[in-house]
Amino acid sequence: MKFIIINGPNLNMLGQREPGIYGSESLEAVLQRLRDRYAPKGIQIDIFQSNHEGALIDRLQQAWREGCDGIVLNAGAYTHTSVALHDAIRAIAPIPVVEVHISNVHQREAFRHTSLISAACSGVICGFGTDSYRLGIEALAQMHES
Ligand code: DQA
Repeated sequence: MKFIIINGPNLNMLGQREPGIYGSESLEAVLQRLRDRYAPKGIQIDIFQSNHEGALIDRLQQAWREGCDGIVLNAGAYTHTSVALHDAIRAIAPIPVVEVHISNVHQREAFRHTSLISAACSGVICGFGTDSYRLGIEALAQMHES
């Protein structure tokens, strides 16, 4: 099984960026740990990060062409603004996309309470710190088992 974890803007700054909210571990460290954890279970995890909306859309479309089995998407701030990402997620159906957030966006500023992508996603996980990524992978694996 092949999953992809796609990360949007500023998530490359994980570890340095507002550590009180996002933690002190780098994105690479978090995601490498996940790859190591799931490889023995036959789950290959690819990783992508971009600060550019169009590049995220290109990667979603590429995932569809590659026959990817599922996507964990932390779209960062584009979550709250991007109709184009919503459309891209719908366009690559039936690939399941799980929306994840490190922070609990509902406990934060009002502008983070709206997600333009949730309705296009299979489900949403938020507020569990960087463990949200693992929960996203678990959700995808479970969807494929049942
Ligand atoms: C985030 C929450 C977003 O509101 C924010 O813009 C991010 C990160 C999270 O993982 O908690 O960049 O997606």
